[in-house]
Amino acid sequence: MTLISYFRQIEMVNFISPLNGEIKVVEFFGKLILYVNDAEQSGGTIAGMWQKAVKKVQSSKFKVQSCLILGLGGGTVIKILQKYYPEVYMDVIEFDLAIIDIAKKYFDIGKIDNLNIINADAFKWIKQVRNNYDLIIFDLYVGKTNPRKSRTIDFLKDLKKILKKAGIILFNAHYQNDEGEYDKLLKDCRQVFTIVDLILIYPYSRILRLR
Ligand SMILES: C[S@@+](CC[C@H](N)C(=O)[O-])C[C@H]1O[C@@H](n2cnc3c(N)ncnc32)[C@H](O)[C@@H]1O
Repeated sequence: MTLISYFRQIEMVNFISPLNGEIKVVEFFGKLILYVNDAEQSGGTIAGMWQKAVKKVQSSKFKVQSCLILGLGGGTVIKILQKYYPEVYMDVIEFDLAIIDIAKKYFDIGKIDNLNIINADAFKWIKQVRNNYDLIIFDLYVGKTNPRKSRTIDFLKDLKKILKKAGIILFNAHYQNDEGEYDKLLKDCRQVFTIVDLILIYPYSRILRLR
């Protein structure tokens, strides 16, 4: 890498996936960022966001042995979880095989211990799973937005069913200045969960803590 290439984005791969649309990996300042339809998914500012959110959970002395991550991307949150909870066992659900290949090839996800990658549609998978988790990270996006099905009471109830009694969900909700839609999500969350806290505000998303 030359000094000049260090300061500009270098495209490593760019292709169209039938499930996500345009997938791109770029190198910037020596680090990799995953974009889907030009929306940042992993690395870059996303790393700072998950770092803050997971740190908040850990500094509240919350213990995590089992974790479910919905949405693999480049696995940014997985690496952060492993840093704060080295013993944690993680299941991750990802519907796009192209993303799983990218995560292994560019983001070294295959080398992480105690990680089980499941290639499935999260909305179907969650209906038949029998496990319970201490922590659930909801991070399903296609480009800039959460899939429509994720912002329904039915799905929130499915999440609650597989959460341990004292467990926590970190719900990464898209936020595109869509106050009405966001308020409806909050209202639905309050119908299903006892505690709904906004723990982090990012330009295009809000992290909610549900329990
Ligand atoms: C924002 S990325 C996840 C980023 C990742 N958690 C990280 O920390 O790097 C969103 C992911 O959700 C996946 N996804 C979207 N809809 C899905 C579905 N119905 N089932 C499973 N995965 C889905 C996308 O393919 C994409 O990889």
